[in-house]
Amino acid sequence: MAKYPQLRLRRLRRTEALRALIRETRVDVGDLVYPMFVIEGKGIKQEISSMPGIFRHSPDRLPAEVEEVAGLKIPAVLLFGIPQDKDETGSSACKPDGVVQKAIRVIKSMAPELLVITDVCLCEYTSHGHCGIVTNAAVDNDRTLPLLSKTALSHAEAGADIVAPSDMMDGRVKVIREALDENSYEHIPILSYAAKYASAFYGPFREAAESTPQFGDRRSYQMDPPNAREALREVEQDISEGADIIMVKPALAYLDVIGKVRDAFNCPLAAYNVSGEYAMVKAACRQGWLDEQQVVLETLTAIKRAGADIILTYHAKDAARWLQTASGDTRET
Ligand code: PBG
Repeated sequence: MAKYPQLRLRRLRRTEALRALIRETRVDVGDLVYPMFVIEGKGIKQEISSMPGIFRHSPDRLPAEVEEVAGLKIPAVLLFGIPQDKDETGSSACKPDGVVQKAIRVIKSMAPELLVITDVCLCEYTSHGHCGIVTNAAVDNDRTLPLLSKTALSHAEAGADIVAPSDMMDGRVKVIREALDENSYEHIPILSYAAKYASAFYGPFREAAESTPQFGDRRSYQMDPPNAREALREVEQDISEGADIIMVKPALAYLDVIGKVRDAFNCPLAAYNVSGEYAMVKAACRQGWLDEQQVVLETLTAIKRAGADIILTYHAKDAARWLQTASGDTRET
């Protein structure tokens, strides 16, 4: 085995052409999913203060945004709904004319080739802000399941291409698969938020989606951040119930979990670069403390290098633009 001075690892870093030749990981626009917030109402386009550049749109204001996303060749969007009315059981989540169902129809009529993934959860629709039905101050797993399967089915009926349960109830993938299959939607895949942690990085999202729990927190259903082996059990459970794609969330503080899941399973793997990760980058860049393009592309590359096939990110539109002009490293020698 060669040693210094024969061995010089810097030889392959001398020029951009050499670096590009041996580059192990590349992010492609085709890997990205753009999350969008749709709000009930008309004529609404509101920027989310903690997520500069990200807006809540009412369904009638979606066309310009959809045209931009499709024009950038981003393959998929993920929809979150903010309804007008919330109640104890989140009943507006599964209405045929609910806000997400309307948004799906708008998007599919404009850009049929753009994949529409829907977040299936009740937290934006319940008055208490929890992801399930509350019985005696606790989130009731089994009473929540039928509402989740109804919601997922209503999304498929409205034209969703993929449904993505994010509630972390046990058994949700199974009941959603059954509901889809019984209604001739056996071709609709399930992307499960399999290893979703109870993370402080969701803060800005809860402002955006108006989904902050009104009492307590989500730690009795979302995973405890210190646990990595448990993530493999969560993923195993969801795959055994019929998940087609699995997700680890958040991404950046959990790159080790992405790596472990990648090593243990052959299922397509998604990672969610969440709202708090976006907000941190935006805030530092606004101060002039970081270079946004370089930081974002480095971050997305790291998530891919850790093992993710698919990256859900609020940076998707900017990244798509930058990837058209750069290969991730535009610096000369
Ligand atoms: C709904 C849901 C959340 C996110 C995605 N789906 C919030 C939560 O669990 O509190 C977070 C996304 C983000 O922070 O970007 N349950």
